[in-house]
Amino acid sequence: MKVRGRSRDDKFVFECEDGERILFAGLRSGLSLPYECATGTCGTCKARVREPATIKDMWPEAPGNAYLKRERGEFLMCQACALADCEIAVPAKMEAGPTRELPAKSTRGKIGNVRLFTHDVIAFDVATDDPIDFDAGQFVVLTVPEVEGGRAYSMVNFERGTRCLQFVVKKKPDGKFSDWLFGGNVDGTEAEIYGPLGRAVFAPEEQKNLLCIAGGSGVAGMMSILARGCQEGYFETRKGNLFFGVRTMKDAFFLEELSSFVSAYPDNLNVTIALSDEEVAPGDEPCGGTLDFATGFVHLVASERMAGQYDNLIAFLAGPPPMVDGAIRTLIVEARLPADHIRYDKFS
Ligand SMILES: Cc1cc2nc3c(=O)[nH]c(=O)nc-3n(C[C@H](O)[C@H](O)[C@H](O)COP(=O)(O)OP(=O)(O)OC[C@H]3O[C@@H](n4cnc5c(N)ncnc54)[C@H](O)[C@@H]3O)c2cc1C
Ligand code: FES
Repeated sequence: MKVRGRSRDDKFVFECEDGERILFAGLRSGLSLPYECATGTCGTCKARVREPATIKDMWPEAPGNAYLKRERGEFLMCQACALADCEIAVPAKMEAGPTRELPAKSTRGKIGNVRLFTHDVIAFDVATDDPIDFDAGQFVVLTVPEVEGGRAYSMVNFERGTRCLQFVVKKKPDGKFSDWLFGGNVDGTEAEIYGPLGRAVFAPEEQKNLLCIAGGSGVAGMMSILARGCQEGYFETRKGNLFFGVRTMKDAFFLEELSSFVSAYPDNLNVTIALSDEEVAPGDEPCGGTLDFATGFVHLVASERMAGQYDNLIAFLAGPPPMVDGAIRTLIVEARLPADHIRYDKFS
């Protein structure tokens, strides 16, 4: 099917396969269509269709539909497939990312190496059929036959041309995908993969200091960013600060890995674990003093400790939406960072 359309600044036409989401078809063909979550919650990918009967909404209950005016033919590109040739209008400018966007594509892979990190955080790998290129900070949409709809997950690793994607997932109460993962016997499951996606990417050539604020499994993309930074020797000349928020020490993970990043660049790289519900007694800190510990909500701890250090800085935020919204407010109001220096993924 042909999808013809216009945005505020461009005209386009692309092919959409049977059953393919219109957003994914457009991105696959190289267009910079607007999106954030790619999974039906944020409403960023809304567009208008001239003939509603030419598309099918694959998830009519999607929370992102709350942002639409249905009577005007508005729909979510990430949840709609084309049934026939169609004509759409995108009420946004085509967004250009901070760097050249790597083309998104569909592939398949097999889930394996599943291991429990904490009582409610699980890690797993997906061995992909084809090599995948992605930037540190990006995510993919995974779909498995056992769960309806795709889920967005950020990669922990970053190597170009890899055939192994690594993920960490936090259990959501009554969450369908996370319940399935924690239910066991998922090793060997075939998954559909669409990606890479996401514009909250680390581009070493920007040469900025980095501030990373993560809540829970939001640390996944930060691991990717710090690993890439360390491999590039980025922190020889640039500062990096990661604030990783969890409730208590028993919820923390990746501490050894974070400690080894700091040990490689002790002068410029700092990692603070912010515990919202607990204090760590002096002397009880793990990792021999390489990591700092603080008590409080992660965005408030970051705001207190970063005061006066916002020069020439890009901020990366990921995790629960209230945490990300709180951090964005602080960075705009207190740090006076321009909006385009704040990159985020809300795990909605
Ligand atoms: C950019 C991004 C990156 C993310 N990265 C991570 C990560 O690295 N680690 C992590 O733990 N979480 C991450 N998340 C959150 C993750 O995508 C899931 O929302 C979370 O794991 C809960 O999924 P669930 O199935 O357990 O919960 P559910 O409540 O069952 O589903 C949650 C989400 O799944 C989608 N969904 C549900 N039902 C349907 C359906 N019928 N059709 C289509 N879509 C449906 C919707 O987006 C919904 O909000 C990320 C989210 C985003 C947007
Ligand atoms: S990108 Fe489609 S609803 Fe978020």
